[in-house]
Amino acid sequence: MVTEKGLFFGLVPSSDVLKGTKPPFFVTVLDRVKENCRAFTVPARDVFPDAPIFYSVKTNTQPFVLKVIAIAGLGAQVVSPREFFMAVDAGFPADKIIVDGIFRDETSYDLVKDHDGLLFIESWTSNVSKLQQACERFGRKARLGLRFKFPKKDNRLGFSLADEDAMNALGAAIGSGDRVRPVMLACHPGSQVQDPHDHVVACKTLLDAHDYLEQRQGMPFPKPVLLNLGGGFAEPEMATPARLAGTMHAIKDTMTANHSLKDFAVCFEPGRYIVGDASAIVSTMVETFRDDAGARWALLDVGMDVLTRFANSHYRFFSMEHPDAPHGTPISFQGRVPTEQDVFGKGVHFIKDAKAGEHVLLMNCGAYSTTFSMRFSFEQPRCVVVDGDAYSVHELTVP
Ligand SMILES: Cc1ncc(COP(=O)(O)O)c(C=O)c1O
Repeated sequence: MVTEKGLFFGLVPSSDVLKGTKPPFFVTVLDRVKENCRAFTVPARDVFPDAPIFYSVKTNTQPFVLKVIAIAGLGAQVVSPREFFMAVDAGFPADKIIVDGIFRDETSYDLVKDHDGLLFIESWTSNVSKLQQACERFGRKARLGLRFKFPKKDNRLGFSLADEDAMNALGAAIGSGDRVRPVMLACHPGSQVQDPHDHVVACKTLLDAHDYLEQRQGMPFPKPVLLNLGGGFAEPEMATPARLAGTMHAIKDTMTANHSLKDFAVCFEPGRYIVGDASAIVSTMVETFRDDAGARWALLDVGMDVLTRFANSHYRFFSMEHPDAPHGTPISFQGRVPTEQDVFGKGVHFIKDAKAGEHVLLMNCGAYSTTFSMRFSFEQPRCVVVDGDAYSVHELTVP
């Protein structure tokens, strides 16, 4: 935030932080995480009272982030036993954690031993059978969610009604035991969803799946069935309150068109929306230079080992020393990993007079950075955590 008193991280002047902390570092504003939890929950529950919201833990697993989200009352969606234990340590109760993901290792179903009634979302029939076996082995029960493919070209993860043999095998696997009870159907439309209609499509996909499984296979869903419409919401700057409200109402209209609201409940798994804009990186321009075509570049002291392109985030670049100067002159940023491919921000708008030694604030670094990257020999940045008007410095936790 820029005020007449300069650039602030939440309520803390950036100059105070820069005096005591050497870049590069992440800066995470906990008040922003809290506000994002509220800003998502309010429009969702306005339309679907009590709708559970599960934070997608793989988006950012830093313990200080997880704790704030647990205190805000959200549940957690995890994709590995490690994420499960991180969530429990941060304060998420096990009955508010969904064990999701497309890959299970041999320890995944050991979670059943200590947690009766845990909810697993499965995408493969073989895993439904493994879950049944684990429940029998440990004398436990489990709740089951079934992930369905979002109907888009090239999507391939999740069950599909188009594959009748696979659906029959799934029905047989579920019917073969009585310890695993199907309670949820899930469909995730993808990341940075730009078309609000995509969540409506996810909802229709799940209503069709429900009707097929109940009518054609006699699958016994206790009512209300939980329709999990995934995440995919952009940062709050783009997924505005009006846009979220519009999406929620459109989902409700879809549900009431041919079904009774009494039979279904809705839940979501936002990741990026909750944490994307809550963290930035303070980086140094180590060199400034021009390429053979005369285009302007700066070498940064962070690279794709810190921020991967898989994050698909809308990075924005600000001069820390001159936040008020016009940011209208193109520059490209070369990352620190020794490859021509380590580029973020090609031809992005920045100040005219970029000088080596000055600092760049990279905004929107909270989602999928510390979880999808961190694989090079350089030292990783530390994290400045801003809580109200105070801040502390932490080592990053490797997930
Ligand atoms: C199944 C599922 N749910 C939720 C999410 C969170 O998505 P986002 O961070 O875009 O909200 C993801 C991300 O890939 C996902 O795969």
